[in-house]
Amino acid sequence: QILILDFGSQYTQLIARRIRELNVYCEIHPFTHAPALTEDIRGVVLSGSPCSVRDPEAPNPDLSQYLGRVPVLGVCYGAQLLAHQRGGDVLPATIREYGRAHLTHINQHHPLLHGLRPGTQVWMSHGDTIKTLPEGFLTIAGTPDVQVAAYELEGQPTFGIQFHPEVTHSTEGKILMQNFVVNICGCDQSWTPEHFVDSMVLTLQNTIGPDDQVILGLSGGVDSSVAALLLHRAIGPRLHGIFVDNGLLRKDEYEGVLESYKELGLNVRGVNASQEFYAALAGHTDPEKKRKAIGRTFIEVFDREAHKVDGANWLAQGTIYPDVIESVSVKGPAVTIKSHHNVGGLPELMNLKVVEPLRALFKDEVREVGDALGLPHNILHRHPFPGPGLAIRILGEVTPERVQILQRADAIFIDGLREFDLYNEVWQAGVMLLPIHSVGVMGDERTYEQVVALRAVTSVDGMTADWAHLPYQFLAHISNKIINQVRGINRVVYDISSKPPATIEWE
Ligand code: XMP
Repeated sequence: QILILDFGSQYTQLIARRIRELNVYCEIHPFTHAPALTEDIRGVVLSGSPCSVRDPEAPNPDLSQYLGRVPVLGVCYGAQLLAHQRGGDVLPATIREYGRAHLTHINQHHPLLHGLRPGTQVWMSHGDTIKTLPEGFLTIAGTPDVQVAAYELEGQPTFGIQFHPEVTHSTEGKILMQNFVVNICGCDQSWTPEHFVDSMVLTLQNTIGPDDQVILGLSGGVDSSVAALLLHRAIGPRLHGIFVDNGLLRKDEYEGVLESYKELGLNVRGVNASQEFYAALAGHTDPEKKRKAIGRTFIEVFDREAHKVDGANWLAQGTIYPDVIESVSVKGPAVTIKSHHNVGGLPELMNLKVVEPLRALFKDEVREVGDALGLPHNILHRHPFPGPGLAIRILGEVTPERVQILQRADAIFIDGLREFDLYNEVWQAGVMLLPIHSVGVMGDERTYEQVVALRAVTSVDGMTADWAHLPYQFLAHISNKIINQVRGINRVVYDISSKPPATIEWE
């Protein structure tokens, strides 16, 4: 595997993505917790950072355990750090070194740069620049503005590049990454979904004892479903899935998904706990209080159901890699915008061992693994859906009546997206029921009814998003259909806010 040491760059996860796309396994570790060099580690990538190496507070770890023993590639800050540690001069850049640049001189015989065309476009993003290299460092590529775009350390496989090969604007960045990971580090390109399934099934069989019983909360989402299939393949009916209907799911979702699970042969029990959730939500209008009430109720219901499984001693969770990576914060702890952690504290409460078969995977890798395991298309390619469900799309108090109104409007919107072949064009879509009434006219009658907002966004990871530019004709069709068919709604609006500054959900 490749070890990526993170110095806090916004691009660190992209480095990992690019390496995984080469079917090579890699892990990100914060520089403060650099793992000891083992035989498994075939190479090390040092990430970028928002810091300057000239800042006395900047990350400056001892890298001697890696240097000269395995290939090391410093990217941007990583490159500047290696040069700085050996006595090179890293100074503020006098000209702009952000954005597109072209490598005008490249040593094409160099194993790191082999296959890159002269003039190839790369992406720069640094305030500092390497002015003079320490002794023993050789420049292997440059641009008209950035003399040392890439260097190597003579006599050992240590390299630095000041551009970012991991972003798509570096058009041949993938070739460079492949040169490093495959040719220089000698990694096998064997990290495929099928390989992952086979080896994870074995790992699970070796970890979970022959009489152990595992429980898993299923949500109908991709992650928990894929985790269930992997465990099912490893231990069969000793996996006990629990699928809780919290009364806040989409229309007919509970029945449909439960049916799919049964068809897959999973040992799953459905639990209808809607009334408990509605009771817990009664009287709450504050978004965070609603989330807490739902989280608490879920734990109560799940705990009760789990106790019905004789001998349960493991809790499986669908945690995925982005949830695990400890991001390096160089600017203090992040503020909580919304508490997305739905059921924190569950394993401690229940005194169970935790197994997380998807801990190492990015979202699209989870989908590939799900595909390899035969998860049906309707679950594999569904939009993300928040744990607290429709409760955070009903602004104000959640009541069973309001859930029903929203479910009807939401079903019209989502079915419409599928019908018009727009479902896969958007990253996520849903309807928000607003806490206001507005005046309308139907026939000769004055109406005074509720308003819904349609929300559809394009995004890569949900961190940033743009409102989806859906065709007017489609929006007109949906608006008509909702107003005509859903009693209690007389007005439909479309949300045209991007994230940031808005968020995807309204609460
Ligand atoms: P926001 O609204 O923060 O949403 O832009 C980003 C993504 O997170 C989902 N979301 C949640 N998911 N529990 C969840 O499991 C939550 O409390 C929660 N709040 C928002 C949202 O649907 C979007 O995909």
